[in-house]
Amino acid sequence: MIVHLNGRLLPIEEACVPVLDRGFIFGDGIYEVVPVYGGRPFRLEEHLDRLERSLSAVRIDNPLTRPQWRALFTDLIERNPGDDRSVYLQITRGVAKRDHAFPKGVRPTVFAMVTPIAPPDPALAERGVPAITRLDTRWARCDIKAITLLANVLARQEAIDAGAAESIFLRDGLAVEGSASNLFAVSSGRIATPPKDNTLLPGITRDVVVELARANGMPVEERAIPEAELRAADELWVTSSTKEIVPVTALDGRPVGDGRVGPVWRHMNALYQDFKTALRNDAP
Ligand code: PDD
Repeated sequence: MIVHLNGRLLPIEEACVPVLDRGFIFGDGIYEVVPVYGGRPFRLEEHLDRLERSLSAVRIDNPLTRPQWRALFTDLIERNPGDDRSVYLQITRGVAKRDHAFPKGVRPTVFAMVTPIAPPDPALAERGVPAITRLDTRWARCDIKAITLLANVLARQEAIDAGAAESIFLRDGLAVEGSASNLFAVSSGRIATPPKDNTLLPGITRDVVVELARANGMPVEERAIPEAELRAADELWVTSSTKEIVPVTALDGRPVGDGRVGPVWRHMNALYQDFKTALRNDAP
């Protein structure tokens, strides 16, 4: 595997970062995960917009211009041919003597790698996945795509330990998002997803789902989802770049709706797959 590190393309075994990198010492950095279908990055401009917002929120100077970011993606994808993939991109504040305050005159570390995306599991459409709920113990800037993910890591592991696939965070009586996904609830045919604010990551997949719903006359609302509504929903879905739209059929050991994958998910998933196919066919 060929990765990008600070302007160079090199085999992953040769890519090394000094131990004083602030990403390693403080988790002081941000990241993106961009799917690649048919050799084309999916919603690249939107991912780069979010990257710029994350950088500016944590006050790391953007080390590359927009054309340079695009070129980095093109070069890395070219050097790592394959089927569906995702690009993981991480930028940290750089290497400096350990001190919480920002170092002066330090270059950010830029790292990117390509990872295969497993094709959607057919069993998913048959059975869906179980999820659990957890109190949201994260900070108040969940809108920043920060590499500092300890609370998310613990929540995902708690899900795995409980035989589930995802943890859904509850904050102040509201369901906000998953440990690495956004949340949708369907009640009486109406789709709801929490509004974008500081409590959740503004997911690119989430935006595509909202757009597809609107374009196809499916009722969708961006509004708060109280815990009671979460527990009474007919369908729950969690969305992310790497897992797409995942139907949740059990929550905390109880069935969601009738416990089966629902018709609104089937409709939305078909629209999403068509959207991906169009992107693939459009590929040069
Ligand atoms: N995570 N919320 C959280 C906390 C996430 O970590 C993610 C994605 C999402 C969905 O965002 P998007 O649709 O843009 O992928 C929501 C990535 C995939 C990860 O950490 O690997």
